[in-house]
Amino acid sequence: MAILVTGGTGYIGSHTVVQLLQNGYDVAIIDNFSNSKPEVLERITQITGKTPRFYEGDILDGKKLDMIFDNENIDAVIHFAGLKSVAESVQKPELYISNNVGGTMVLLKYMAKHNVKNLVFSSSATVYGVPKHVPLCEDDEVGGCTNPYGQTKLDIEFLLKDYAKIHKDANIAILRYFNPIGAHPCGLIGEDPNGIPNNLMPYITQVAVGKRDHLNVFGSDYKTHDGTGVRDYIHVVDLARGHLCALKKLEEKPGLVIYNLGTGKGTSVLDLVKAFEQVNNIKIPYVICDRRPGDVDENYANCDKAYKEMGFKTELDIFDACRDSWNWQKKNPNGYDK
Ligand code: NAD
Ligand code: UD1
Repeated sequence: MAILVTGGTGYIGSHTVVQLLQNGYDVAIIDNFSNSKPEVLERITQITGKTPRFYEGDILDGKKLDMIFDNENIDAVIHFAGLKSVAESVQKPELYISNNVGGTMVLLKYMAKHNVKNLVFSSSATVYGVPKHVPLCEDDEVGGCTNPYGQTKLDIEFLLKDYAKIHKDANIAILRYFNPIGAHPCGLIGEDPNGIPNNLMPYITQVAVGKRDHLNVFGSDYKTHDGTGVRDYIHVVDLARGHLCALKKLEEKPGLVIYNLGTGKGTSVLDLVKAFEQVNNIKIPYVICDRRPGDVDENYANCDKAYKEMGFKTELDIFDACRDSWNWQKKNPNGYDK
């Protein structure tokens, strides 16, 4: 089975490509390296002994997609390509709309032209906005996104629903990721943010490796067990496996389906810091600061639907993720840069 992976050299894409190759799928990637490095391809080959076919290009480039779908006999697309910085999206909302929503429209146009019926899409728990309750279920209300990035994910979900109404034979799995962390246990691939990390785990590993002095903990007066924000941290290797479950689900021709991909467990900022310290035996100094605008008290998933309908359940926990994130960071203190 041949899969086109958009954004396949990114953080989640690269981990998914490894599992696809290890499970006998034939893989082609398109990525414009706007947030990833060519070195990722070498690492994927080192891990799997296989080299995916790679097309450097932009999903906004219809001619390129046309050529790829002509060259390849694609059965399904896994669509990771997108910009994901919340802060940048506030500065440049048009860029996020054109790249994320516009890019998906171009992709759908050429999937339809080439009769490719199966799509897995990277959505986010951010589509739930400020949760009215936790855990969050797939049929809970969406909307009230607190930033343009989140809004593009929701807009794409609506676009996919409209597409599925017109293309009755399309099979689409919308996967709403909670908080992906961790790295492949071999330490060859992992998360490589540009500049100062926005997200918690890469910030912790950069403190551990000595690049940052201390962690800033954004708020200690949330309505949670220790006052710090609670999230659902899912190991990226589990998350990647979720995409293989979704591809299997699409073989049943379900039409459009939506699944949360999380663990179902809430972990606070300080819980994660403690887990990291315990498993790696490294102290993470931290300072309690003001809340970060837009942050919510608690956000975690009800994962029953993904288990019932596609047999997906996480196998790794935050301790595995803390060990693997640190293994990646210490072996690659500058990420993919030498
Ligand atoms: P990433 O930035 O590491 O990977 C995205 C990849 O897409 C990068 O390699 C980038 O170069 C590529 N890309 C971006 N725009 C492109 C375009 N127009 N044409 C071709 N390639 C393009 O991000 P990630 O963490 O791997 O996330 C993958 C997807 O999952 C994204 O859509 C993201 O919004 C979504 N998501 C991520 C998280 C998270 O916490 N990492 C959470 C929820 C959802
Ligand atoms: C953020 C985004 C979300 C996006 C997700 C994955 C916001 C408001 N939300 O989610 O849209 O889908 O990343 O990219 O930006 N924290 C600290 N110190 C830090 C970093 C984070 O205390 O240096 C805390 C945060 O306040 C939060 C938790 O750690 O309580 C997790 O933060 P983060 O990793 O940024 O993820 P989210 O905020 O859940």
